[in-house]
Amino acid sequence: MRIRVLGSAAGGGFPQWNCNCFNCAGLREGTIRAQARTQSSIAVSGNNTDWILFNASPDILAQLRAFPELQPGRTVRDTAIRAVVLMDAQIDHTTGLFMLREGRPLEIYSTDMAREDLTTGNPVFHILQHYCGIHWHRVPIDPGKHFGVIGAGDLSFRAAPVASKPPPYSPRRDQPHQGDNIGMRISDPKTGTSVFYAPGLLEIEPHVRPLLEDADCVMVDGTFWSDDEMIRLGVSKKRAREIGHLPQAGAGGMIEVLKPLKASRKVLIHINNTNPILNEDSPEHRELKDLGIEVAYDGMEITL
Ligand code: MLT
Ligand code: MN
Ligand code: ZN
Repeated sequence: MRIRVLGSAAGGGFPQWNCNCFNCAGLREGTIRAQARTQSSIAVSGNNTDWILFNASPDILAQLRAFPELQPGRTVRDTAIRAVVLMDAQIDHTTGLFMLREGRPLEIYSTDMAREDLTTGNPVFHILQHYCGIHWHRVPIDPGKHFGVIGAGDLSFRAAPVASKPPPYSPRRDQPHQGDNIGMRISDPKTGTSVFYAPGLLEIEPHVRPLLEDADCVMVDGTFWSDDEMIRLGVSKKRAREIGHLPQAGAGGMIEVLKPLKASRKVLIHINNTNPILNEDSPEHRELKDLGIEVAYDGMEITL
């Protein structure tokens, strides 16, 4: 299977439109070594022709331009995107669906919980019915349940509910339910390989650990380096954990989670613009490099 990172940043992207933090200002002014990043999404293909999107970012049009394989010219109107799988109902993972409204009905996969938010507080699904229309498919979160996705060929999918947070507009923001956020194991029977993708992850619950341990590649929440990162920079009063993201540093942090895994690729994705790992000359970036942990970037490709 082939995995293409379309967007590697968290909500807001990098640099963020209104932000003058060290990273955002440094990137704009060219005083730090870093790459701009668009908002969180990956594309996966089992055959190099048909692609499944995981999340639809507000930056999707730029992401498609940067990856022409998603727009083949077989007919007067054409796309290689066969389906879109949503990991949650957050703005940065769903509003790109609006940009796909000119095409055929969208095959959209989500949990019941994400569907609830996307038909009420942020009724993207209803609105799309007035444009291209959608065919909604339930992502099952029953333990161990495999499912297929239209256009994905033999690739096999297994979703696990993960601890994180539903969007700020959700009535469940402060009492997350199972299925508000998921991690996805994608496996390719042809190669016997698998990836576990979880861009929003607050805690490694017992049912999630084996998914991390078995995977050949993990692509997990890389939002924040430290719990109080945004507070220290004066950009927010919120801690990483409060908004559903396990920070990388410190006891119980994501680095400790990743270190013992056997996966040959350990990738942090959905990186917030405040995270020092975006600065390629930072000690934090160096620490990850020494541990063999990769920082996802737009256009990154992984073949498993
Ligand atoms: C998050 O995952 O917490 C988001 O990136 C928030 C947002 O979309 O602004
Ligand atoms: Mn996000
Ligand atoms: Zn910033």
